[in-house]
Amino acid sequence: MTVQPLTSPPSVSNSKIITPSSDVKPWPGLIENYRPYLPVTENTPVVTLLEGNTPLIPVPYISQQVGKGVKVFVKYDGLNPTGSFKDRGMTMAISKAKEDGAKAVICASTGNTSAAAAAYATRAGMRPFVIIPDGYVALGKLAQALLYGAEVIAIEGNFDDALTVVKNMAKDYPVTLVNSLNPYRLEGQKTAAFEVVDVLGDAPDWLCIPVGNAGNISAYWMGFCQYHSFGKTNKLPKMMGFQAAGAAPFMAGEPVTNPETLATAIRIGNPANWEKAWGAKDASQGEFNAVTDEEILEAYRILAAQEGIFCEPASAASVAGLLKVKEQVPPESTVVCVLTGNGLKDPDSAIKHSKNQVKSGVKPELSEIAEVMGF
Ligand code: F0G
Repeated sequence: MTVQPLTSPPSVSNSKIITPSSDVKPWPGLIENYRPYLPVTENTPVVTLLEGNTPLIPVPYISQQVGKGVKVFVKYDGLNPTGSFKDRGMTMAISKAKEDGAKAVICASTGNTSAAAAAYATRAGMRPFVIIPDGYVALGKLAQALLYGAEVIAIEGNFDDALTVVKNMAKDYPVTLVNSLNPYRLEGQKTAAFEVVDVLGDAPDWLCIPVGNAGNISAYWMGFCQYHSFGKTNKLPKMMGFQAAGAAPFMAGEPVTNPETLATAIRIGNPANWEKAWGAKDASQGEFNAVTDEEILEAYRILAAQEGIFCEPASAASVAGLLKVKEQVPPESTVVCVLTGNGLKDPDSAIKHSKNQVKSGVKPELSEIAEVMGF
């Protein structure tokens, strides 16, 4: 058999091939990109799926709803490799666990942390164990954790019970805790604030963010403060944290024993980062507020149907919160709402709460389809 020499396909002329300009560098993942700001050394084995560098998307319909010349953007962290902001923290937590020689990691989770922990631990050659509240984790998240190879244990209890269990497990057994009590998680997550500033050229006036275990709001604040101390921003944003009304311990001023909300990602009654989040709110002269499930769903639908952005219900709490307190937004200000997770994580909620439903039972005939289409 003769082997044909490799030649260019005759129909493609070289002049038409567009090559990337030499100064466009591929994104190296957030640890490499922000290395000087992170607690890593050249001995840290970086475990990365090239997370971070997610888009800051203008949302004109929502801006118009707020009015007063306010510019609203969403930080769409649902575009991370496992579909949520948790990848930012997990690249750091797993890299540092590997540096320390860990063989197994454990987390409690409402779903997203478990997916991220499973993906990064597997990539690092460690065993991921995840403890979840039985029946309260969205389908996509569970599917991810299982396929990435996590050992998933569902307990009869809520997230707060699961967190208590894993804290004790990590004390007594050879497993590293990768919930946001692990300080490296927040170090990774703070890079989202860096990215916002890198795009806007300064901090926004307001940052609206869903609050569950309260790690992310604490991490963003760390990031803004650090960038500010390095002269990368002129100002600091007001931190506006939003909890689901049925799971709003910050509004109650004490832990909530039976948190309930359809936004299962933030169905948390006793946030582990309570003190840090209150510190961020107070230092930034921000506020905590609660949004009802109906307000969350309305924002969820607006984001998808008006802006073309599909996030999960918990993420929409940031936009629901902004719309709820829009009278307080200063005119001409810049607001960033954090969208923490991808809508594909929770297909059941999308189908259940969409105003649009499938028109089924239609015959494959032009006239019938045209009639259904309203022509
Ligand atoms: N949004 C989503 C989509 C989340 O998954 C979470 C937390 C939050 C917001 C709240 O962030 O806890 O830092 O205040 N999910 C955790 C988990 C609890 O297990 O996936 P937080």
